[in-house]
Order: sequence, then C-alpha cells, then structure tokens
Amino acid sequence: MASFIPRTLPMDLHAKFYLVGATLFLLVGIILTLTLRPSSKGNEESPSAFESFLRFFYASFLKPHNGDGTGNGQQDALESFYKAQAGVYDTTRKRLLRGREDMLGLAAAQLVHKSDTEGTHDVKRIWVDIGGGTGWNIEAMSEFVSVPEFFSSVYLVDFSPSLCEVARKRFARLGWKNVKVVCQDARTFRLEDHEDNTPDAVTFRRSSASNYYAEDGPNVGGADLITLSYSLSMIPDFYSVIDSLSSLLAPSGIIGVIDFYVQSIVDLSCRNYTGGAINRHVNWFGRLFWRAWFDVDRVGLEPGRRDYLEYRFGTILGADSRNYLLGSIPYYMWLGCSKKPTSLNTPNYPHEIVDRLDAAVTESPYLSPVNHTQALSRTVESSTPPELRSKAFDAAIINLSANLPLPSFFYQNHHWRIHYDDQLKKHTQFKHEYIYAFTWEDSRVDNRLLKLGSEDVVLAITSAGDNILSYALSSPARIHAVDMNPNQNHLLELKVAAYSALPYADFWKLFGEGRHADFRSLLISRLSPHMSSRAFQYWLNNTHVFMSSRGKGLYETGGSRHAIRIIRLLARTLGFRTQIKALLSAKTLNEQREIWAKDIRPILMSRLLNYLLVSQEKFLWAALGVPPNQLAMIEADHLHPAPESTPSPSSSPPLSHSQKKPNSTRGQAVWEYMAQTLDPVIDSSLLGTDNPYYLICLHGSYTPRCHPDYLSPQSHHKLSRTPAFDGLRIHTDSINDVVSRLAPNTLTVAVLMDSMDWLHPCDEDPSSSSSANTQITQLNRALKIGGRVLLRSAALVPWYVPVFEGLGFGAKRVGARIKGSCIDRVNMYASCYVLTKIRNLPAVDSNTRARGGSVDLEDFEI
Ligand SMILES: C[S@@+](CC[C@H](N)C(=O)[O-])C[C@H]1O[C@@H](n2cnc3c(N)ncnc32)[C@H](O)[C@@H]1O
Ligand SMILES: *[C@@H]1O[C@H](CO)[C@@H](O)[C@H](O)[C@H]1NC(C)=O
Ligand SMILES: *[C@@H]1O[C@H](CO)[C@@H](O)[C@H](O)[C@H]1NC(C)=O
Ligand SMILES: *[C@@H]1O[C@H](CO)[C@@H](O)[C@H](O)[C@H]1NC(C)=O
Ligand SMILES: *[C@@H]1O[C@H](CO)[C@@H](O)[C@H](O)[C@H]1NC(C)=O
Ligand SMILES: *[C@@H]1O[C@H](CO)[C@@H](O)[C@H](O)[C@H]1NC(C)=O
Repeated sequence: MASFIPRTLPMDLHAKFYLVGATLFLLVGIILTLTLRPSSKGNEESPSAFESFLRFFYASFLKPHNGDGTGNGQQDALESFYKAQAGVYDTTRKRLLRGREDMLGLAAAQLVHKSDTEGTHDVKRIWVDIGGGTGWNIEAMSEFVSVPEFFSSVYLVDFSPSLCEVARKRFARLGWKNVKVVCQDARTFRLEDHEDNTPDAVTFRRSSASNYYAEDGPNVGGADLITLSYSLSMIPDFYSVIDSLSSLLAPSGIIGVIDFYVQSIVDLSCRNYTGGAINRHVNWFGRLFWRAWFDVDRVGLEPGRRDYLEYRFGTILGADSRNYLLGSIPYYMWLGCSKKPTSLNTPNYPHEIVDRLDAAVTESPYLSPVNHTQALSRTVESSTPPELRSKAFDAAIINLSANLPLPSFFYQNHHWRIHYDDQLKKHTQFKHEYIYAFTWEDSRVDNRLLKLGSEDVVLAITSAGDNILSYALSSPARIHAVDMNPNQNHLLELKVAAYSALPYADFWKLFGEGRHADFRSLLISRLSPHMSSRAFQYWLNNTHVFMSSRGKGLYETGGSRHAIRIIRLLARTLGFRTQIKALLSAKTLNEQREIWAKDIRPILMSRLLNYLLVSQEKFLWAALGVPPNQLAMIEADHLHPAPESTPSPSSSPPLSHSQKKPNSTRGQAVWEYMAQTLDPVIDSSLLGTDNPYYLICLHGSYTPRCHPDYLSPQSHHKLSRTPAFDGLRIHTDSINDVVSRLAPNTLTVAVLMDSMDWLHPCDEDPSSSSSANTQITQLNRALKIGGRVLLRSAALVPWYVPVFEGLGFGAKRVGARIKGSCIDRVNMYASCYVLTKIRNLPAVDSNTRARGGSVDLEDFEI
C-alpha cells in the first residue's frame, strides 16, 4: 500500500490540474467568444468567433496529437496540432499571444535608433522570424516601419506546412515580395542558403555553435533582427536553436523574443545581468499550474529556455507581464544582442569596453581604442588603485572571467546609467517609489552661484533630476548625478530619454502637465532605445502615472504627493480654493500679499492645523522629505536663534540637539519655520508667473508661463541634440560611495542640497561612511583645489560647517533667511553655503588612495 501511494499521487495532481484547467478554460473560452468581434470582411480567413473558438478548443484539448503516423518527429506533431486550426489561428491568438506588438515595437525602435545614429538609412536589413506561423507578426510590424522598404528580405521560418500556407497567402495578398516563407525546422535554417544572390560575396559566418568564441574578424552580413514570438516554448530542442542564433545574427543585430514562462525569483538571486526583475517572480501555484496546462499542448514553460537565452546573449531590455484575459499567464519580452565584448580571444575588445566604462565612471584616464594595446590595458589594471575602480568594472571583470554576459547596463545604447545591484537593502528600502516628483531647489540661484563652464566636473544629487538638467544647459564636461533611491534615477532617465526622443509638445505634456494619454506607446516605440532595462521596466509597470484617467498625473505621485494632496484637501475643506486661484493669478506682488494676508494665511497657519498636521514627524518625513536629524536642527535654531548680526559660522559653536527637549516646542519650531519660509516668498516673488516651486504645489502642474527652466522650448532645443548628455553619469549609490571612487583632484563642483543635514552630528566614528568627517575628507580628496561644495541647510549655522573648515575648506554663507529675507524662490532652507577647497589634506592613510591616482593620470597622458 505504502509504495502504491507515492506513485499515483503525482498523476492525480496532474489530472486535477488538468481538470481545473479545462474548466477554467471553458469559462475563459466563453469570455473569449463573447469579446471576439467577427471580422468585417468575413472571408474564409476570418470565420465566426464561435467557430474559431470551437476549432481552437478541439485542436488544443480534445484532439489527440500524436502525429499522423508517418514518423516525421516534431513536424508531425506540430502539423497534427495546427492543421485543424490553421484557418482560425489568427483570430484565436490575438488575445492569447499578447504583447507581440510591444515586442515588435521595441525591436523596431532599436533598429530605427541604430539607423538614425549610424546614418544607415539606406542600408537594407534582414529579418528572420523563427517559428513565424501565419506571418501575423510580419504584417503587424508595419505599424512601426514599412516592411517592404525597411527590410531587404524577411524570412519566415516555420515547421508547420499548413501555417506556412496561410502565411504565403497573406504575403501574396499584401504583395510584399521581400518576404520569403521557409517551411523548415529552425534548427537547420542557415541564412547563407538563402542569401546567396548577394553579389559582393557576403561572407556569412559559417561558425557552428561550438566555436562561438572564435567569432572575430570582420563579420559581414547576418540577420539584423531575429524574432521568436511564442515559438521558443514550442521548440523541443531549444538549446540547438538558441545556439544557432549567434551565427545567424549580424554583429550589431538584435534578437527579440516574447514568450510564456514560469520562474521563481530564487533562480535569479545571484545574477546581475538580467536587466531587472520587476514582476518576474511567479508563485508556486502559477508555476505548477501553467506548466502542467501548457504541457498538454507541448509548450514548454520551464525557466531554462529564457535563462539560456539570457546566458548566451547580452540583455538590452527585458520585461515581464501577465496576460490577464486568460487568468494571468506570465509572459516576458526580451531584447538581446551578441555578448561578444566578453569573447576572450579578441584581446582588445573586452578591455576596451570595460576601460571605457571604467574611465567614464571614475574620472580616470580614457585610452582611445585605436591607441589601445594589450600592454597598456594591463598597465591600467595593475596601476590604478583598486578602490578607484567603478562598481560596474568590478561586476564586469567577475562576470567576464566566469564567461557570463555583462550586466545589462553594458549593452545599452547610452552609457548614462551606471550598473548597481538592485537587491541591496539600501535600494530596496524605497519600495519602488520616488520621493520627489519635482526638485525643491532653486536652479536660478544655483546657476548664479556656480556659473558652470565647459571645464566643470559636477557631482549633484539627482532628486527629480530637474537641477541636473538645468546644469546640463551650461554644458559642463561631466555631470555625476547621484541618488541612493533607484526610482529617482529612473525618473531622471525618463526625462533624459524624452529629450532625446520626443518633440517638445510631448515633452511638455509629460513633464509640464504631468499627463500623457499615449505614454505607453511612446515608451515602447520612442523612449525605449534610450533607457536602461531597469528604468524601462519601471516605467512600463508604472504607465498609470501619466495615463490614469483618475490620477492627477506625475506631480501627484511619489512621496511629495502628500503635500499637494493635503493642500488640495485643506483648500476644499476650509474653503479657500478660490483664494488660491486668485493668489496664482495675482498680477502684482501687492495683490498677492493682500490675498495671502487676508484670506489664506490666517487659515493655513492656524496653530491648530500646525499641531494636527505639520508637527507630526511622520507627515513631515513623507510629505517634505524632512528626516529626523534635520527636524532636530530646526528645533535647535528655534530654541537658540543664531545671532543675526554676526553670522560667522566659525565663531558659533555647533548647535546642541534637542533629544531631551519637551515635545511642545517641536510644533512651535516647525510653525515658525513655515512662517519664515512662506511669508518672504509671498513677499518677493509672484507665484503664478515666477515661482514654479510653489505653483506646482498649489496647482499640480506647470503652466507655459511658469515652469522650471529645463521645461522651456529653448532648453528642449538645446538638450535634444545628441552630444548634450554625453557627459552625464547616473549613479545609484550613496554620495560617499561615488565620491570615494572618483579619481583624486578631478571634481570641481559638488552640489549636496540638504543631504548633510541627514547625517547624525554625534556620529564621530571616522570609519563609518555616514560620519560627516568621512564624507568631507572624501570630498576634499576628489575635489580640485578651488573646487566648490554647494549646500543648503535647515539650520542657519549648521553644525558641520566647522568640520568642513577643519578639513581644508573655506566656508562662505551665501544666503541666510534672516528677518524676512529670501534665500531663493523655494526658501525652504535657512541657509545656503559655498565651501571652497583651499588645501589638500595630508595623506593620513598611508595606503594607495592619496598617492595612486594623480601619478597614474600623468603616466597616461599619451
Ligand atoms: C505559438 S506559434 C507562434 C506563431 C507566431 N510566431 C505568432 O506569434 O503568431 C509557434 C510556432 O512555432 C513553430 N515551430 C515549432 N517548432 C518549430 C521548429 N522546430 N522550427 C520552426 N518552427 C517551429 C510552430 O509551427 C508554430 O507556428
Ligand atoms: C593616439 O593618441 C594620441 C594622443 O592621445 C592622439 O593624438 C592620436 O591621434 C591617437 N592615435 C589615433 C590613431 O587615434
Ligand atoms: C557577476 O558579477 C557580479 C559582480 O561582482 C557578481 O556578484 C555576480 O555573482 C556575478 N554573477 C555570477 C553568476 O557569478
Ligand atoms: C550581484 O548580485 C549578487 C546577488 O544579489 C550580489 O551579492 C552582488 O553584490 C552583486 N554584484 C554587483 C556588482 O552588483
Ligand atoms: C508595479 O505596479 C504595481 C501596480 O501598480 C505596484 O503595486 C508595484 O509596486 C509596481 N512594482 C514596481 C517594482 O514598481
Ligand atoms: C516626545 O515624543 C516622542 C515621540 O514622538 C516620545 O517618545 C517622547 O516620550 C516624548 N517626550 C516627551 C517629553 O513628551
């Protein structure tokens, strides 16, 4: 008995799944039948929806497909599956095989981008669609490019004669002469068997899969695009087909795959090359259920198919989604390219790409590929001190030696975004949400204080990216945008991609109004070639930010939405909505002051409100991004106001902190802080025309009259040209980590916003990366003499200014909010400082850090 049970249990389970599946399917089938619209044409290629479904259902679940007995292996089985439903194939698959247009759009976008940047508009391309079935995809591609003009030849390779027949009819109807239907096993398809009519002796690589690593020398020809749309899962010998892709693919060609899959996130935990894993995990029930279900139709969903693809090629983009119509079947889209740069017996190539990226990230010397010899690259490796290597470099070297693909960031079209490990707690703590949808720092004042030039190397906190973009308008040599929160950087990437790919009207809709009804299709067909895989995934999962009809657009997302919502709520409940409108349309400062003083201030600033809402630490943190340490500084200033006449930072002692202070002062301190923030702003700038920072909070979107400078048509004109962002590097890390990896004496400007306020003043441990001492020492090392640090603080005299002065900086307070004056249009901070590096610190650490970099810099100025 005991031995009997285990043997039947798995079968039982399987049978149960099958039954559950079949029942569900019937239900879904009914939905499908009801939602399918009969085609208006009504010819034999589009039979009625009900008939379609019956035939599909019969072929999929009732008809035994063991072949017709001629013993022709897979073709037999395929044919027995498809023969009965070839005619209804397209009608029944429209919804089942979802996402095909998206994959085609992504692939087309890459090809169009390539032809734009390489100026190869006239060059014709080759496209191979493996398992192309009825040719539906090839016809659907015409939504993105004109198939007869864009491609010189298109090969549809399919093993099922009856589907090939449908395809032939389709292309005869369309009159597309460049499409060739090849009824053949994908394992044996070779391009050179078909492209032999090219006159100039195109040398296709005949390399078999086994000598893949020998692919060097000038490779001419090959497919520029290979697609597998829901066919990889139907090919039993998928290893052989995937291997054959690398010899089929042109050196700069791309592969597009869409298919069903199931996978547990556990499989991926040690991989850094997948390009993000948003939604990739499928729970255990889904994994069992969908595999068992698809097994019936000989469709293999096991993770290995996708894993092998990702291992054999470099990942450009990947995204996971669900087909909800049929009960959330998981599917993925993937774009890949040859992982060639890792090929180990082409000595210069891998070093070149790695060095180039490394140089880009760390401000170490860049060696041109032409001058680049192996000896030189070895010197770089041995001479640059290890801590000056970028993290991207570390990842690349380890994965190179393990013969793995490089992280997906290396295969992207732009090298803006630097690789980071998204599994680290310091990044996951943000829970896929950005805090700032807009930046609360006055870029006009920054520009006046900094006066960036073409020589400047700037490091700044990303936030929402607004200020990064405003710095980019001065075209400094390099901008390092740094943020620990990956989602802030995703937002910046989106903005940069939008400059690169969209006309001003769309750009304005996205970031001026914060809404765009076509965001998803723009993301796929225009923005995707300019984004990293992770940013793309993020926005694909969050298209509702711009598109939701219920939502209020970009500026009511992220942590700062709470502030806007509270203002809206207050305005409604306390009934001063019309007054706010009046405030925003005030023509003169006097008018504005009057409305404020008479109608709004008394209500908004009522102490009751303050106690209920504003003094809540939790609220402040979420809505304004005020961390506890900063709150403590505000309180300290409230209790011990700095002497207004002598605001010399060095003379006043570091202010004490109020851990022990009674709570009642907290509310008052914050109230006073708010009053000092708002009153002078109302007094000195017209909100409706000149103060986008308050306009966005009160209005929820910008207006053509009033917006940050990065949103103007002139800025768009300037930043949409190609070299505009060549110097941009987006780091997802702490400032300290980035600064410590920069080559010494290279940085000229560091904009820290209020981030120093977040540090804890008692953290004196010099080894801790969060101590002010460590950060300032690192900044000193990275900055040139004369290099500047710009920062703002909630305190009039922040406790860390003397620390700067002790570590080689001269401090100057360039703005202070004293007696009703404004430091800028935001006026959120009490003071603004510029700290200039006046001397190098003695090399305290006797290790390589201080010595190495500058010496090497000279060595390599060849
Ligand atoms: C689910 S259909 C997808 C058809 C089409 N790509 C689409 O998206 O509508 C899978 C296709 O893979 C084809 N196929 C399966 N094994 C194959 C093989 N070894 N060689 C070529 N094609 C194959 C089948 O004939 C079938 O047309
Ligand atoms: C090699 O480098 C030098 C100095 O950087 C440069 O002037 C020269 O043009 C380079 N050679 C080539 C072939 O690019
Ligand atoms: C790829 O490189 C990273 C970076 O060091 C490493 O952590 C990771 O384990 C490597 N991947 C594999 C599969 O070894
Ligand atoms: C790669 O991923 C692993 C696992 O998440 C992680 O431990 C490792 O630090 C990562 N390496 C890099 C360079 O991101
Ligand atoms: C993806 O979108 C869903 C629904 O909007 C959300 O719950 C989830 O957190 C998102 N995931 C990421 C990684 O953004
Ligand atoms: C002040 O508030 C904190 C929580 O916000 C509480 O833990 C603490 O006991 C309070 N102190 C006094 C003196 O009320």
